[in-house]
Formats: sequence, structure tokens, C-alpha cells
Amino acid sequence: MATAVVTGASSGIGYEFARLLAAEKYDLVLVARNLNRLNEIYKELQDRHGIRVLVVPADLAREDAARGVHNEIQSRGMSVDMLINNAGFGYCGPYMEQSWENERDILQVNLISLVRLTRLVLPDMIARGQGYICNVASTAAFFPGPYMAVYYAGKAYLVSYSQALRNELRGSGVRVSVLCPGPTATNFQTVADVAQTRLFQLSSLATARDVAEYGYHCLLKNKAVAIPGWQNRFLVFGARFLPRDIVTAMVRWIQGTKKRSS
Ligand SMILES: NC(=O)c1ccc[n+]([C@@H]2O[C@H](COP(=O)([O-])OP(=O)(O)OC[C@H]3O[C@@H](n4cnc5c(N)ncnc54)[C@H](OP(=O)(O)O)[C@@H]3O)[C@@H](O)[C@H]2O)c1
Repeated sequence: MATAVVTGASSGIGYEFARLLAAEKYDLVLVARNLNRLNEIYKELQDRHGIRVLVVPADLAREDAARGVHNEIQSRGMSVDMLINNAGFGYCGPYMEQSWENERDILQVNLISLVRLTRLVLPDMIARGQGYICNVASTAAFFPGPYMAVYYAGKAYLVSYSQALRNELRGSGVRVSVLCPGPTATNFQTVADVAQTRLFQLSSLATARDVAEYGYHCLLKNKAVAIPGWQNRFLVFGARFLPRDIVTAMVRWIQGTKKRSS
């Protein structure tokens, strides 16, 4: 049986990836901080699908976390066929009101641990001539993001990184895809404090299930950049034709709330 690693599997899009991969009979490695929730998911999926599930509690904001996750997988004699780099979070508010520690953690979880884990699983995938890597970015990747500057810029990094890696790995049997969801109904809104922004108030939110299914199918189809939902694809495409200053001002407006109007 093939093995898939899902980071951020305790909630939202990652949980839905885990559910659909379990139904596809992948053995699973579930990574997140919330051990109780991971154990519930472990029971649910192992009982229902008869697959092997390894729970690896890890705080990916810690510098050595990706190495620890990889060591744990190796010590169980498992090799990774699919890596879903999904764990991530953001925070919305005026830049100077955000703490450096929070920014550092966003960079560590959303970027550094992701790159490190990718770097750790790749040699084995390349040696076996097969593998799938899905990096979860966001439509935020395509815009500068006032009030979430570090988060938006980090997602842009992920798209660039994924496309470059994909190009280098052509012919190796390893496929890399980057999934760029728009606003999706998950715990992200609470963590990032974005529920009251115009973006989340005015958008019809996608379900985490639909986003995970779309990402999975695009990964199998070897699509480079997967943007779920025609409205999101339209926005990303349309923004190419507008001056960057105007796009940035528009994002500032939608990232605002009634209280924080511009
Ligand atoms: N929801 C949206 O509107 C949206 C839109 C575009 C992109 N995305 C991206 O989609 C991905 C999944 O987010 P979601 O929407 O599903 O949000 P979510 O429900 O809050 O899930 C986030 C997941 O990341 C994990 N995580 C967060 N910090 C972590 C840490 N320090 N160490 C380990 N795991 C950590 C969480 O697990 P624990 O709390 O248990 O650690 C949780 O499983 C993120 O990369 C996000 O940027 C979301």
C-alpha cells in the first residue's frame, strides 16, 4: 500500500485530504499539534478503511520539527509516496500591531518546515522514480496582501518554489503541484481573525472537502497550479491586467472590516 503524509491533518482542508486518501486506501501519516484530535481521526479512518495510520504530533513552528517528523516515519520503516504540505495559518491586522514571534511562526510553519520536509522526502522519491507532492498555498499568492503581508508573500513563495521544483524534477517521476484555494470554510478564519473581513463576509466559502478533492485530482493529473472555483480563477487571471497599485488597494479594502474600513 502507498503511504501519504498529510500535515495539518487535524482540521479543515488537511482533515479532508486525510479522509479522501484513506478512502483511496493510502496508509496515512497524520501531522499536527492537536494530539487528541489526531487520535480521533486515527480511530475513525483506521476502523472505517482498514488502513495503517501513524499519528505524529509536531509543532511545525519549531525549527527541528520537520526533521523529527521524518525520523519518526523512517523509524517505522515507512516510505513516503505522497506528501500533502497543508499545515499553515495566518493572522490579519495592521502590520505594526503583529508580534515578531507570530510572524516568525507563520514563516516557520508555512514555509521553512514545508521546504525542509519536502527536502527530506525527495531523495527517496527520486530514487524510487515516483512520488507526489502537493503544496497548499492560496489565491493570496497572486496578490500583495495589506494586513496579512507576511502570509500573502509566503504563499507567493510557495507557488514560485513549487513551480521551480516541478520543472527541475521533470522526468524523475516525482510530480509537484501547488493548490491555491480561495476563501474556504475551516478553522482558518478563527485562527487568522479574518471572519469579519469583507473578503470572508462577501465571499461564498468553498467547503474543505471540495478543495481537497480538487487538489487531489489536480495532483494525479499533474496540474502545476490548481485553483479551485471559477470565481477564484477569474480573479487571479483578471488581476494580471490591472496595475499592481490598484490590485493592492483592492486587497486592502477586502481585508478590511467595517471597523477597520481602509
Ligand atoms: N481556509 C481558507 O480560507 C484558506 C484559503 C487559502 C489557503 N488556505 C490554506 O489551507 C491550509 C489549511 O488551512 P485550513 O483552512 O484547513 O485551516 P485550519 O482548519 O485552521 O487547519 C490548519 C491546520 O494546520 C495545522 N497547524 C497550524 N499550525 C501548526 C503548527 N504550528 N504545527 C503543526 N500544525 C499546525 C493545524 O493543526 P493544529 O492546530 O492541530 O496544530 C490544522 O490541522 C493552510 O496552509 C492555509 O493557509 C486556507
